[in-house]
Amino acid sequence: MQGVLAAQRGGAILNALHTHDGTRSEDYLAAARSVLADLVAAPQLIERLPLLRKPGGYARNLLAGNEAVSVWAIVWSAGATTCIHDHHCSCCFGVVSGTVTETWYRAIDPSRAVASGEQDRKPGFVACMLPSGPNIHRMQNRGMGDAISIHIYGYDHHLHDSSVETEYLAVAG
Ligand SMILES: [Fe+2]
Repeated sequence: MQGVLAAQRGGAILNALHTHDGTRSEDYLAAARSVLADLVAAPQLIERLPLLRKPGGYARNLLAGNEAVSVWAIVWSAGATTCIHDHHCSCCFGVVSGTVTETWYRAIDPSRAVASGEQDRKPGFVACMLPSGPNIHRMQNRGMGDAISIHIYGYDHHLHDSSVETEYLAVAG
């Protein structure tokens, strides 16, 4: 599947991510942070792409992908929210425009989780998480306009529909 980025730029992003066999996870994460920092520092590059939008929800746009990683631009319409979820792969993201509110949860059993913290992620914010770490969260756009974020997931988009491992039901702490 060809992403919405020009092939040359998409290829440069994939090269910069150092996804070849033997790359240590800390080196991969450092590369992902660097790629995201560059992308969120140039919002005009992303905003001029022909990105899909989904009123009331979020739309994922593949920018680039190979057998190890996939890079997506997600457009969050006003009111968009994910389920509460964790990931089967590494998940790095950066905010290009708007504000994405990230709520963290802690699992109390295999299907229920309690909120443990919340932060507004603003343009320029970059974060990475690994499937081995605390990584249950929900993302929402509580603003009046669109928000755009870039996500780099450690999965092959030909093999997986998404990065979500488990969905959780929120319960009071
Ligand atoms: Fe997530």
